[in-house]
Amino acid sequence: MGFPENFLWGGAVAANQCEGAYLEDGKGLSIQDVTPHGITGPRTKEPTDDNMKLVGIDFYHKYREDLKLFAEMGFKVFRTSIAWSRIFPKGDEEQPNEAGLKFYDDLFDECRKYGMEPLVTLSHYETPLYLAEEYDGWINPKMIGFYEKFVTCVFRRYQDKVRYWLTFNEINSILHEPFLSGGIQTPKEQLTETQLFQAVHHEFVASALAVKIGHDINPDFKIGCMVLSMPIYPLTPNPDDVIAVMEKDHMNMFFADVQVRGTYPGYMNRYFREHGISLKITEEERRILTNTVDFVSFSYYMSICETADKSLGESGKGNLLGGVRNPLLKESEWGWQIDPKGLRYVLNTFYDRYQKPLFIVENGLGAMDKLVMGTDGNKTVEDDYRIDYLRDHLKQVEEAIEDGVPVMGYTTWGCIDLVSASTAELKKRYGFIYVDRNDDGSGTLERYKKKSFYWYQKVIATNGKNLDEDI
Ligand code: BG6
Repeated sequence: MGFPENFLWGGAVAANQCEGAYLEDGKGLSIQDVTPHGITGPRTKEPTDDNMKLVGIDFYHKYREDLKLFAEMGFKVFRTSIAWSRIFPKGDEEQPNEAGLKFYDDLFDECRKYGMEPLVTLSHYETPLYLAEEYDGWINPKMIGFYEKFVTCVFRRYQDKVRYWLTFNEINSILHEPFLSGGIQTPKEQLTETQLFQAVHHEFVASALAVKIGHDINPDFKIGCMVLSMPIYPLTPNPDDVIAVMEKDHMNMFFADVQVRGTYPGYMNRYFREHGISLKITEEERRILTNTVDFVSFSYYMSICETADKSLGESGKGNLLGGVRNPLLKESEWGWQIDPKGLRYVLNTFYDRYQKPLFIVENGLGAMDKLVMGTDGNKTVEDDYRIDYLRDHLKQVEEAIEDGVPVMGYTTWGCIDLVSASTAELKKRYGFIYVDRNDDGSGTLERYKKKSFYWYQKVIATNGKNLDEDI
């Protein structure tokens, strides 16, 4: 069977992690411009020079060169986000910023020139800073209106250039990182659960509204939700561990459940009841929620364990959610546990639950690369570890396809090196293309093809056949 003929192979980035040009052409500040340490350190009052995102990899000026390289690899799709604060610099203006709109016009035209479908995230951890400071982000119901104005504007503008859209990046991360994910300025320790889940509800309403508005503007739009997926395994066969897993899973699955089924699941109503959480939800909002997504997309990097006995196991590091370390798995240099089979498991779980097409929009290995001189006289990186990681995961995607799961496509995370979301480091590299830029701000910003560049090029050219063959 193998990968379907129209499989969307490609790569993914987010505006705030690669564009730089943080004040150019009328852009306003976003929450990223004041978080020089990602989630590992305090935010700053103003943008500071140690914030690597201010320059990023200068994609804002170099995107033509970069898209050419993606096209050379054969990308069918390119995932990026629209930086909200380029379009509405503060977020609550009446009129959009024409220069910001023009930038994405040019970017999407350039994608189309190479026959690459843009896949656009509407909100990827880049809430305009003003909305965080003045309104406390998604806690405030006014955010729904601001987001509605933003998405209506970009849907109209790019209706003939973009077909695939995602409403919120890793929407479930808001419970863990309220500032990064929801622009919520109130410190996490001071937030009540009611406030947090109310913010989640506002995002659900906004996402469903986006689906409705998008389909009204162009019925051909395919609009998906995007969740951070992380399979959770019981640490032992103790039934209490299995129930602990189920409950932790509910806290994640609830996000896709609402966006796919259009209603709150019973287990969350129980949770709200038993935790004294009473949300403000109007009848009108319940109706809006029935505008459900066309497909389900997700990031996948790792799995984790859970146990009812908190004295067992060590805590595992990971992609925002965390959990208990799996003693059987290896991990990356950043402690993320590597589990290719977990990807087949996630694909099957989502499809069994929703019977919707699935899109893997992030997967990859963050690693420290070493630039060396290649045999052809060009600088390169011998990143066999990255090739192994991606190959092992793709084999499991193929298994899931054999299982009957409809997978629309696969975009590797950080197809070109960029700034890490969690640590704001450049040395945590994911790309097929090395960017000469370092955490101390040094580097020429030159691009170099890694060994994985040629490997992925071959994977795409053969539509994923012969994954085991060396290049
Ligand atoms: C996901 C995010 O959580 O993981 C990306 O959607 C992020 O923005 C990616 O970059 C990898 O995480 P990190 O922290 O290694 O950059």
